Amino acid sequence: MEWRVPLADLDYGVEEEMAVLGVLRSKWLTMGAVTQQFEAEFAKAVGAKHAFAVSNATEALHLACLALGIGPGCEVIAPALTFVATTNAVLYTGATVRFADIIGANDLTIDPNEIERLITPKTRAVMVMHYGGYPCQMDAVMEIAGKHNLAVIEDAAHAPGAFLNNKALGTLGDVGCFSFFSNKNLSTGEGGMVTTDREDIADKVRLQRSHGMTTLTYDRHHGHAHNYDVVDLGYNYRIDEIRSALGLAQLKKLPVNNALRERFTLQYRQELKESGVGLPFENARGKPAYHIFPMLLPAGTDRDIFMDRMREQAIQTSIHYSPIHTFSYYRKCYGNLSLPHTEDVGQREVTLPLYPTMGEEKVAQVVAAVRQSL
Ligand SMILES: Cc1ncc(COP(=O)(O)O)c(C=O)c1O
Repeated sequence: MEWRVPLADLDYGVEEEMAVLGVLRSKWLTMGAVTQQFEAEFAKAVGAKHAFAVSNATEALHLACLALGIGPGCEVIAPALTFVATTNAVLYTGATVRFADIIGANDLTIDPNEIERLITPKTRAVMVMHYGGYPCQMDAVMEIAGKHNLAVIEDAAHAPGAFLNNKALGTLGDVGCFSFFSNKNLSTGEGGMVTTDREDIADKVRLQRSHGMTTLTYDRHHGHAHNYDVVDLGYNYRIDEIRSALGLAQLKKLPVNNALRERFTLQYRQELKESGVGLPFENARGKPAYHIFPMLLPAGTDRDIFMDRMREQAIQTSIHYSPIHTFSYYRKCYGNLSLPHTEDVGQREVTLPLYPTMGEEKVAQVVAAVRQSL
C-alpha cells in the first residue's frame, strides 16, 4: 500500500548514515564506548543519575520490575490502555497485574483514585504509562505511592523529551523505561533505556542486563579485566554500537522534532475543533512529547468503516489501544474485568498520522479526509 500520509515516518538522514558508518569502520559492534556515550548523553538530557541502554523497552520494563524485587506473590497496579508490553513485563516476573481504569475520555492516563482502590497488602509498585507522551497525574500518583510505600515505574516509551514540573518524564518515579522502536520519537529500530537515580536499582540493572556478569567483553578487550564472576541470574538485554550511534544522532534531533510534533498537534486540534470528534488532552499537564495524535469518534460510529474510508484515501490510521484486559490471554489469566473509561476509549479511539517531517499540508489533507470519512 502506497500511503499518501503514513502513520509515522523516520527523520533519518546523513547524520544517522555517518553515525553507523563510524561504528562499522571502528569494527567494534557490541556494547562499548558508543553505548556509554549514548547512555551519558541520554542521562544528561533527562536529568537522571543513571541510564542503561537495552535492546528494547520491554526488556527495560522487565529489568525495572526485577530491580524492584517484584516477583511471585507481588501485585503491580497498571493501566490497561497501553501496549501489552507494559504488563507483560510484570507477568514475566511471576507477579500479578491489577488493572486500573484511566481518568476519562479527555485524559487517557491512569486514574490515581483507581490506584488507591486497588492497593492491597501485596501491592509493591505502580506502573504508569505516559500515553502519547502526555504526562500522567504524577503529583497524585507519587503522593499515593509515598503514603503506601509503593515503588513507581514509569513506562515512558512515548515520552522522551517530555517534562512535568521541570523534570523529565521517566525521572519522576523510581525508574523510567524508554522505547526506541522505529515509530518512536527517538528511533534506533529496536532499542530502549532504563533511567534511575537509585543506586540499588542501577546496580541490579547493570548486572542483569548482561547475564549477571561482573565485567563486559568490552572491558576485557580493553585490558581492564581478565575474568568475570556471575553474581545474579541475568539476561542478554544488551544493545549494540550501531543502534547506540543511531540513538546519539536521534537524541540531537529530539527537541526540534518534538517541537514539530507539537506544531502539527496544535494544527490538528485547531482544524478538528468543530468536526464532532473528541480530542483528548485538551488541558495537558507539563510539556508533552506529542508521540501520537489520538482522537475519539462520536459514540455509535463504526470505526472499521471510518478507518477503511481513510485507507481508501491512502491515509494510514491506527488504534491505541485495544485494552489489554480484553485480549484472550489476559482474559484467561484474569477473567472478565470491567474498566468503563478504558473500554469506551478502546472502542472509539483512532490515531491519526503524526511525525516531525509531515508538514502542514499533510496535516490539512488528513483533516479533510477525516471530515469526509465521518
Ligand atoms: C507504551 C509502550 N510500552 C512499551 C513498549 C515496548 O517497547 P519495545 O517495542 O521497545 O519493547 C511500547 C512499544 O510500542 C509502548 O508503546
